[in-house]
Amino acid sequence: MTGPKNNIVDYSAQFHKPDGAYFLTHSIGLMPRSTGRCLEEQYLMPWKSADQDTWPNWLEAVQGFTNALATLFNSDADLFCPQSNVSSGLAKVIQALPKRKERTVIVASESDFPSAGFVLQQAERYGYTIKLIPKTADLQSLEVWEQALSNDVHSVFLTHVLYNINAKTPIEQITKISEQRGITSIIDVAQSAGIVPIDLAQLSADIVVGSCIKWLCGGPGAGYLWVRRSLIDQLKPSDVGWFSHQNPFEFKIDNFEYHQSAARFWGGTPSVAAYIAASNSIEQINTIGVSNIQKHNRALTELIRAAVPDECISSPLDHTQKGGTIVLKLAEQASVEQRMLNNKIHFDSRQYGIRLSPHIYNTAEEINELIECFAQP
Ligand SMILES: Cc1ncc(COP(=O)(O)O)c(C=O)c1O
Repeated sequence: MTGPKNNIVDYSAQFHKPDGAYFLTHSIGLMPRSTGRCLEEQYLMPWKSADQDTWPNWLEAVQGFTNALATLFNSDADLFCPQSNVSSGLAKVIQALPKRKERTVIVASESDFPSAGFVLQQAERYGYTIKLIPKTADLQSLEVWEQALSNDVHSVFLTHVLYNINAKTPIEQITKISEQRGITSIIDVAQSAGIVPIDLAQLSADIVVGSCIKWLCGGPGAGYLWVRRSLIDQLKPSDVGWFSHQNPFEFKIDNFEYHQSAARFWGGTPSVAAYIAASNSIEQINTIGVSNIQKHNRALTELIRAAVPDECISSPLDHTQKGGTIVLKLAEQASVEQRMLNNKIHFDSRQYGIRLSPHIYNTAEEINELIECFAQP
């Protein structure tokens, strides 16, 4: 942190920034400068010492991950279970759901991240039918969900912020409707965690899956799963391991007992390094505050918005209806993209246009460099 400048705290010095302006947080959030030291102290040192404290130290550090998540989402640490990624967490959930004879449909959307769709397709082998709301539907309209959540629906998979056009799904209302109709709600927060404040104590969600690689700046391999407390007992994952056991150190091969907490979804030996790196990042995001990050993102996004005609913006114009990415479908897009590349602007381009994700480490100067690329030479 370089200290206050015009009453605005500049956090960019806390992150490793590449040459040029980095707007790819929707893909990979930048690494905090503290990550190396943290890994050295909490991962490598206990390993180097190789004494009887190695595992206790590592496990304490992983506990730091669920603690940091609990603060981030305003919930309890024991309701979170570390996972490798969203897909793997979702696959375990699908296999663990209690079957209901009269309800066999899982509702999702064609706009969900494809990897989640691939996992959901596998649910068909367990007797479920997948119904995908078409891409053309307005997923921000409650009517669409009211209609989709019919009597035969077992579960609904909701992406909080869509990866393609960055629209924010009204999960507060949809989870309420699901609850009233006896439908299990599963929410993917991969694109919203760290940029949209999420209060799990206020939300009627049943299950949440997410990762840390994007706005949480936590790197790959540190996914997580959250389960509503009243639901834990009903979920019986088939993908388990000794860390899913109520007493991992019992070591009786003929006695498996599900852990009372969400840890029943854990499995075998965890990838400690990923969770240590991620917990350090989440703590940093918690310290900065998701609301502050969102405020900064909105201010920078507004500068981009003002520089292009509204009809060139594929993401929602209203900040309250979106996550942190602005998506631009520009006239002369190819030449704009070339100018951006020449000027070391880091971005990507998809079906709906150029994706740009200003985080707390981006500055108004970087936005100006970006906007200069929009203008004709
Ligand atoms: C909405 C959403 N969900 C999930 C993922 C990634 O899933 P996984 O963690 O399984 O790689 C992404 C990645 O871009 C995403 O945007």
